[in-house]
Amino acid sequence: MKRIVILISGLGSNMQAIVRSCTLEGWSGQVAAVISNRPDAPGLVFAARQGIATAVVDHLQYPSRDRFDSELARVIDGFAPDLLLLAGFMRILGDDFVVRYEGRILNIHPSLLPSFAGLYTHRRAIEAGCKLAGATVHFVTAALDQGAIVAQAAVPVLPDDTPQTLSARVLTAEHLIYPRAVRWFVEDQLRLRDGRVQLANAEPQCLFWAG
Ligand code: GAR
Repeated sequence: MKRIVILISGLGSNMQAIVRSCTLEGWSGQVAAVISNRPDAPGLVFAARQGIATAVVDHLQYPSRDRFDSELARVIDGFAPDLLLLAGFMRILGDDFVVRYEGRILNIHPSLLPSFAGLYTHRRAIEAGCKLAGATVHFVTAALDQGAIVAQAAVPVLPDDTPQTLSARVLTAEHLIYPRAVRWFVEDQLRLRDGRVQLANAEPQCLFWAG
């Protein structure tokens, strides 16, 4: 049974999709805890209702990023995770933190990386005139949004899209690829070769979602 710990900052709809898939598909893994840096994150309520342990490490209570990262790692390690997931976790984590979990930490980012790392991805994709947008599940490394890519979903950018409408279309696709990528990790299907992720089974690592 692989133990999964999920970090959130808000709604946690990706976390919810992962919890549901884990239960419905009977993974040989369990979500051991959901941890938020914001005490009022709605995702905590969902997790608690599912009987999942929850914790808060409020970044506002720590004088530096290092102190926050250390406390976060202490709380995470109390749940002995095999896999750590960032699911809408909106804090940048320091190098020491990332190295501690190297090879067992995944993130979902709302763009087709390496395009549009960082914030405001949907607005930037629309302003750039992109015809495709999407989301990427990747291993986390010290370089922001640059780790090896596990899965990507592409969605169309429609002529009258706003950041909100595009974000909603991308989020629906996120809920499809993140649980799938996590299941691959739990099933030991992911191989890292030359900084690239290969899949031991024949499932596609990309998804085209018309919305
Ligand atoms: C998702 O779109 C996720 O890709 C994004 O925040 C949203 C969280 O939604 N993450 C980032 O921007 C990280 N850089 P959720 O809380 O409902 O899962």
